[in-house]
This record gives sequence, C-alpha cells and structure tokens, in this order.
Amino acid sequence: MDYAIEAENLTKIYSKSKKALNSVNLKVPKGRIFCLIGRNGAGKTTFLRIVGTQLEPTSGRAVVLGHDVVTEPDKIRPRISVVPQEAKVWNFLTPWDYVYYYARLRGISAGEARETCVEALKKLDLYEDRNKLCLQLSGGMKQRVLVSMAIVSGAELLLLDEPSIGLDPISRRQLWSYIRRIVKAGHTIVLTTHYMDEAEALADNVAIIHEGEILSVVDINQILEGNGSSMILEVNGNDVSWVSAYGGEQVIGGKAKIKLDEDEKIMLEIMVKAREKGCRVTFRRPTLEDYFIRLVGGIELESS
Ligand SMILES: Nc1ncnc2c1ncn2[C@@H]1O[C@H](COP(=O)(O)OP(=O)(O)O)[C@@H](O)[C@H]1O
Ligand SMILES: [Mg+2]
Repeated sequence: MDYAIEAENLTKIYSKSKKALNSVNLKVPKGRIFCLIGRNGAGKTTFLRIVGTQLEPTSGRAVVLGHDVVTEPDKIRPRISVVPQEAKVWNFLTPWDYVYYYARLRGISAGEARETCVEALKKLDLYEDRNKLCLQLSGGMKQRVLVSMAIVSGAELLLLDEPSIGLDPISRRQLWSYIRRIVKAGHTIVLTTHYMDEAEALADNVAIIHEGEILSVVDINQILEGNGSSMILEVNGNDVSWVSAYGGEQVIGGKAKIKLDEDEKIMLEIMVKAREKGCRVTFRRPTLEDYFIRLVGGIELESS
C-alpha cells in the first residue's frame, strides 16, 4: 500500500518533564480520510505540526509523501496544505482574495490561479459569495474559505486541525460533505478532532491518541460493525446488578450496558429478565464513542 505519512518512533519533548509525543508509529494510506482523535492535550496538533514541517521532532522519524520531514522539508511543503487549529479569516478580505492570492503565493500563474480559484470556491459552495467581505459570512462559510485555500494549491495531502470547532451542527455537516467530496477528487486528508461523531462521519481510519501515545488504529467500519459485539443493550432501572450474568457492566447509578452478538435467544432472555426486575431496555449499535471511552476512560479511571 502507498502511504502519505509514515511515522516511526516519533517523539516530541517540549520541556524535560513531559513527552507530547511518545514513540508514535503511524501509517496514513493515500487517498483516505484519516482521523486522529484524542482529548485536549493528547498530542494531535504536535503530530500535525511535525508532519506539516513546522516543528522538528525530538527523535524518531516522519516521512511525508516519500520525504523526511527534517532533511527534506522543501520537497514536502509544495505538496501539502495545512489548516491550523487557530486559523481565522480576516474580516476585511473576500473569499476570492484569500483563495486567489494564496494560489499565487503557492507559485501558480495568474491565469491558472483564476481557474483553480473558481473551481475551489465552487467545490466549497462559496462561488456566489466570493466577493463578499468575510465579515458578512457565517462561521461555517469562513471555515470553508480556509479549506478552499487548502485545496486551491492542488496539494495532495491536507492537514486539518480541528476544522469544525465552533461550528453549529448544520455547518459541521456541510463541512463534512465538502471534505468527503475533496477526498473523492484524490486528496489524502488527515484530520484531528475530539468529536467522535465527526470521526464516525468522515474517517476511513481512526487513530486514538492519548498522552502522546497511539492507543489504537482502527478501520471505522470495524468499530461500527461491532468489533466483537454487534449490539449494545442499555438497561435502566433501580436494580441492574443482574446484567453481570450476561457480561454486562453497570455504568452509573441505575444504568448498565451489555454488549452482545445478535443472538435472539439471549436477547429475549434479557428482555424477560428486565421485565421481571422492572427495568427498561433499549438496543443500539456500538459507536466510536463506546470504543474511545473504553480505551481512554479505562486509563483515566485507573490513574485517578
Ligand atoms: N509549544 C509548546 N510548548 C510546550 N508545551 C506544549 C507546546 N505545545 C503543546 N504543548 C504540550 O504538549 C502536549 C500536547 O499538546 P497538543 O499537541 O497541542 O495537543 P492536542 O492538539 O491534542 O490538544 C500538551 O501537554 C501541551 O500542553
Ligand atoms: Mg490541538
């Protein structure tokens, strides 16, 4: 398989006391959406900044599009685009200004820049509003201006650091559909988020990072199809202790979770038992959040 990013024992220490990245090994396949998920401070931005050649690792190695980030950053930079976490558009420029001048800065000729600019703005549904001041745009549109800048350069690899932060639920979904469209056009996207629904909606592959370490790299479909359990039963009631007989666990007062394969006999048995105990049962599919909480929450609980 062809990889856009290959990280080997990648480590970053900002100060002596703490490793922001601790021996990270990660491979990002080309032409996919790869989500790096983790809590605040997990190391997501540090990873993207190293891969984006803005920050050097303390040790280990990262190869991006076949080139080493430390020895050959100049070979990487023309082929990637970054939307940093803190990026904001300035109110007194227009989407056209942003995207056109960015294309020119990336070395694209004036004629070609006009063409790619129209294309990028249309892809992100900003063409009609291209001459409005950013001041007049919604938060979702402003974020789309940043993403259209990232694609106008024709970069093969886009690094988006928490692109939907601060957006309302509808704007987030719109942004997701644009991101999916970009990938179909052949780009590779690495996106960081701490929103599980965002990773579920977008990712082909997900890496969970916690305190600088990669805890797991998974195919999202594997998680959503169950990863060992294809159904989750949530039980509510005064006495839920009986769930342990079915491998269930109590979550918080009066609530319990049972993971099951789709076994009708057992399900029926649980329903009967729940009724006897005066409990209510709801069925749902497993989510990435279940998986994340189990992995990261488990560690947090152990250390607290
Ligand atoms: N420039 C910096 N100097 C010192 N420590 C930093 C710096 N940037 C990040 N850190 C620390 O590194 C860790 C990882 O941060 P970061 O990569 O920003 O995480 P995330 O993006 O997942 O929230 C955190 O403990 C953070 O406080
Ligand atoms: Mg961050």
